[in-house]
Amino acid sequence: MNLKDAYINYFKKHGHVQIPSAPLIPENDPSVLFNTAGMQPLIPYLMGKEHPEGKRLVDYQKCVRLTDLDSIGDKTHHTFFEMLGNWSLGDYFKKESIQYSYEFLTETLNIPVEKLAVTVFAGNDDIPRDEVSADVWRSLGISEDRIAYLGVEDNFWIAGESGPCGGDTEIFYFRSTDEVPAEFDPKDERWVEIWNNVFMEFNKDENGKITELPSKNVDTGMGLERVVAVLEGVDDNYKTSIWKEIIETIEMVSKKTYVGNELSMRIIADHIRTSVFIAADRALVKPSNTDQGYILRRLIRRAIRHGKKLEIDMNSDWLAIIAKEVIKKYENYYSEIKDNKEIVLDVLRNESLKFNRTLEKGLREFAKMLKHLDGNIIDKDNAFKLYDTYGFPIELTEEMATEHNMSVDVEGFYDKFRAHQEKSRTASAGKFKGGLAGDGETETKYHTATHLLNAALKIVVGPDVHQRGSNITPERMRFDFSCDHKLTDEEKHEVEKLVNDWIKADIPVTMETMAKDEAVKSGAEAMFIEKYADIVNVYSIGDVSKEICGGPHVNSTSELGVFRIKKEEASSAGVRRIKAVLE
Ligand code: ALA
Repeated sequence: MNLKDAYINYFKKHGHVQIPSAPLIPENDPSVLFNTAGMQPLIPYLMGKEHPEGKRLVDYQKCVRLTDLDSIGDKTHHTFFEMLGNWSLGDYFKKESIQYSYEFLTETLNIPVEKLAVTVFAGNDDIPRDEVSADVWRSLGISEDRIAYLGVEDNFWIAGESGPCGGDTEIFYFRSTDEVPAEFDPKDERWVEIWNNVFMEFNKDENGKITELPSKNVDTGMGLERVVAVLEGVDDNYKTSIWKEIIETIEMVSKKTYVGNELSMRIIADHIRTSVFIAADRALVKPSNTDQGYILRRLIRRAIRHGKKLEIDMNSDWLAIIAKEVIKKYENYYSEIKDNKEIVLDVLRNESLKFNRTLEKGLREFAKMLKHLDGNIIDKDNAFKLYDTYGFPIELTEEMATEHNMSVDVEGFYDKFRAHQEKSRTASAGKFKGGLAGDGETETKYHTATHLLNAALKIVVGPDVHQRGSNITPERMRFDFSCDHKLTDEEKHEVEKLVNDWIKADIPVTMETMAKDEAVKSGAEAMFIEKYADIVNVYSIGDVSKEICGGPHVNSTSELGVFRIKKEEASSAGVRRIKAVLE
């Protein structure tokens, strides 16, 4: 039996209900590009909402972490990965959680206890040292010198800046053929983390204030790829059974061996797998120049460039051949992979047709540039030319430059990029609201109204109000925000009035594209900033609002009509929900 099935079975046997993997592209959260952890779709339940499936849950969750994008090519990083997780929502806590993990590792997976070590939370000024977990580990036979106490940096877990959080205990495996040292040194890289059990008993608000959650929860996460590598005794994730057929297929289409071509083959394998999952996900993202679409484009184009390096015949159906191998591997676990197979293959074929038209010329142009440059920096004009004329994402140009010990004037590139956006935006004004993301006119209006509502709440309720989620249909908008009380009638009235005043004031909505860091520096607001791509769109509504957002938006607030709050209610602990309409 494979690890995924063994894990689900074990926790089912211990009273957990299996829940399906949530979509990769979060449902009600336009500010987050992708799910990055198994717990993310469960945040409302960790915050206190009752889960329809009960208090013990288990799943395997699709995740994408873009922080690792530049590390792809090494042995252990992937942009897409599956996280195995089990949860207790106010049911069992430290003792049972640790016992389950220990039993699963040592009995189901037969990992010798001598190869295991753990870290536990050393505590800080507010939260005591976690002797409870340490005691449980000792009682299970983990010796004292295999337990390390670490501080907030290592053993306190939170997704982003705020939300449910708590101390954790992490389990490490000695991944080496060397003799296992008696004493565990968490800095020794032969010890790899395989499982994280987080004891989520706190909530951290935007000001950093920690309060207790309504219940003590457990959130665990185990990276499937890494543990499979451990179990199969290899020191390269791409040598496991997960990747075997995929790498073999790349060897077949390139007529080259993995040995000697590891970097390009790993990038191709990783990026095609991630592209398959993004393109098959419920939102059916297509390659584009913004948000998830831009990530998809970057992944496919980078894979194609590495395919070219391996001298794969670009006119063959190689991307689809590799993608089919990925689909075969996952279609029995994720129905969308099976259902959307043809859509995925079309996305890959179309994007490769588009890029192939310019790739060859672009590469020649790049080679020419290298010859004519003074110094070792690709200037902004050349970087922009590669982007605009030849479709090279800036990150691809950077990667190619690095291979030649050169760098790129990325800031200058963004200046040019912005100026260009502004020009084409003015040129196409009017077409703009037609729906950049395929949204209808009404949804577009609601998108803009969401920003106004967010701004009004900050004025009426206080600057600590932050968006926690939103959902838009042609009939209404729903907006969740952090707030510790039920809004009074007066507050609701004031919010409505402010929004309607802004609508009447006919304020233009403007968009700028910029580097993420720059957006943050300029004071743009976002829910989970670390989850954005490196280039973001920032929408401003006069001085009223400035938010990182995928859009689309109307051109001016006067297009919105009249804003009415229909309902204000609790969503979960510390989060209120407004339903509103535009009439
Ligand atoms: N949420 C925890 C993690 O991602 C388990 O590590």
